[in-house]
Amino acid sequence: MDASEAGNDAAAPSIDVESDGPLIVRNCKHLLDAEGNALETKPHMALCRCGESKKKPFCDGSHREAGFCGDPEEGGLPDRVDTYEGKQVTVYENRRACCHEGICTEYLPSVFRPGETPRVQPDEGYAYEVERVVRTCPSGALWYSRDGKRGKNDVRDPSIRVQKDRQYDVVGGIELHNPGGEQPAIPEHYTLCRCGHSHRKPFCDGTHLECEFSDDE
Ligand code: SF4
Ligand code: FES
Repeated sequence: MDASEAGNDAAAPSIDVESDGPLIVRNCKHLLDAEGNALETKPHMALCRCGESKKKPFCDGSHREAGFCGDPEEGGLPDRVDTYEGKQVTVYENRRACCHEGICTEYLPSVFRPGETPRVQPDEGYAYEVERVVRTCPSGALWYSRDGKRGKNDVRDPSIRVQKDRQYDVVGGIELHNPGGEQPAIPEHYTLCRCGHSHRKPFCDGTHLECEFSDDE
């Protein structure tokens, strides 16, 4: 085993997207289940992204049998930032990055109003609430500024959370090596597909809801 396979305490954590195969995670010490409990980690781990493994979240080679194609599809929403100016807080949204977790619409429906124009109305909530909800967006689709200054990201240890029946939440600025080229909207946090059906692989685009992805199958 060479040094890269064995991992290196001093090396920064990273994720390599393997073509038609798993996510190769190196030097990430924190892998969590949906409740935040620590899962066993190794310096070099392969995480399933085809959705077929019997050992989720780890890869068991099922992608080969399943004929998994890890390529993203053409099209989808444009990589564009929409600005929603408020008196105190301005919200920015890149809808392409959204994984449809629904935190924004669930916790602040007065501000986040899909189907309406404008779809984000920052003045319909307290500034501190808008900031709090934007900071919990896992995908990097949302960020904000206040008094002309961009809101700071939380400083978090690098970790990957395996959300039940849905995506991987990656935080802490883990470097992503994606041969497809697309990079996270916000490098500090992003969400990766593990159902195998996202149109925007390796990123999650919420398709796990339509395909009713389940960890129990
Ligand atoms: S990923 Fe972010 S923008 Fe998309 S629904 Fe969730 S909280 Fe809202
Ligand atoms: S986990 Fe595959 S689209 Fe969300």
